[in-house]
Amino acid sequence: MNFAIRATLVDELLQTHQAYWRFNVYRGAHYQHLAKHAELLRFLLALSDEQVQALQGDDSRLLNSIAPHFPAAASILSLITLDSPPTVIPVHEPPPGVPGRKWQQISAFIKCHTTISRPAVEWCSGKGYLSTAISQRFSLPAVGLEIDPQLVAAGNCFAYKHHTEVKIIDCDVLSDSVYQHIEEEQHVLALHACGGLHQRMLSLAVAQHCKQISLAPCCYHRFIDEYASLSAQLKLSPLHLTSDDLRTAVRQTNTARKGETQARRTLQAWHLGFRELLRQQGLASHTPLPSLPQHWSKTGFAAFCQRLVTLTQLTFALPSNLDAAENAGWSLLHRAERIDLVRMAFRRAIEMRCVLDSVLFLEEQGYRCSLATFCRSELSPRNLLIQAQLPRSD
Ligand SMILES: C[S@@+](CC[C@H](N)C(=O)[O-])C[C@H]1O[C@@H](n2cnc3c(N)ncnc32)[C@H](O)[C@@H]1O
Repeated sequence: MNFAIRATLVDELLQTHQAYWRFNVYRGAHYQHLAKHAELLRFLLALSDEQVQALQGDDSRLLNSIAPHFPAAASILSLITLDSPPTVIPVHEPPPGVPGRKWQQISAFIKCHTTISRPAVEWCSGKGYLSTAISQRFSLPAVGLEIDPQLVAAGNCFAYKHHTEVKIIDCDVLSDSVYQHIEEEQHVLALHACGGLHQRMLSLAVAQHCKQISLAPCCYHRFIDEYASLSAQLKLSPLHLTSDDLRTAVRQTNTARKGETQARRTLQAWHLGFRELLRQQGLASHTPLPSLPQHWSKTGFAAFCQRLVTLTQLTFALPSNLDAAENAGWSLLHRAERIDLVRMAFRRAIEMRCVLDSVLFLEEQGYRCSLATFCRSELSPRNLLIQAQLPRSD
């Protein structure tokens, strides 16, 4: 299936199923649209905590298991399935200081390239571990562009220690100063550059006629005021993705630590418990509530509620005994986690639409493109890799 057809099908599927992925049960949204899916609801509500956790972290497993009760799941699965990643066992241990997981991602990213033969420019390079690995592996000069001066300094020390021809440059890629670093004969690469930053990379690389581009995108909602499609094809679509939609695309927690997951769940349960209190007080239970940072999970439900009352400037006195509301929060969470699996079933399709938009844009500009997963989702759920090349003009 070519990219244009795949994008059309993904876009149509998202349009016709908006009710299923544009509702947020954690914000107190009702799910009347699931009323006609009694079998699906029964299946979801009977799942154990372990099953929910496994399905939350694995798109194929989730889609395969709900497919008998929700026919759209089979279509989603066929549209999101790409070539599998090669099993990459890094040849070398990570260099000292490089986190193991990051090193494995870098090894997998590089392994997907048959060769890299042009000087590399790494977009939003952090400490430039990818630049250094490329420079070593292919004996090429590389430049990393990074806004954080501390990362720039640390990256230059790292490159120097490894005797590479790598320079990390202090550069805001959203500013005009970036133009001087992008040239036609370069290979522009990014591993996990966020939304607005990778859209900028593609626009600039195309404008400068860069011969080769490799992009593993992430966090589509970041560095963007309002998502605008890059491709002429998807610009014509009536579907406009909001920031919340883009957040749904990256809602996969299988790389989170156990403590982080527990803290997130506690805050979600308390949010739902607080909503229950609002409902009991006759206050609109869908009032927007701010998210509190993770450390609030270490306080207690009463302190959490008091903080929300202060932040939302709601005028009601909290009951002296909050046990019932807290318990209600936990049982609402139990239900919400199961219902939310329906929204989760669409997250990769939303991500695929964003990525296909980039691919179509590059194709429209004359690039030959490929799209594959470059690593297992346990290593990074942001595992899509676009490779684009301008055909030789001779
Ligand atoms: C998600 S990290 C990825 C870093 C690296 N590519 C990796 O995989 O480890 C994104 C990086 O983008 C950098 N960044 C954010 N905004 C930027 C900007 N406007 N210009 C250049 N770099 C930026 C951040 O400081 C951060 O190092």
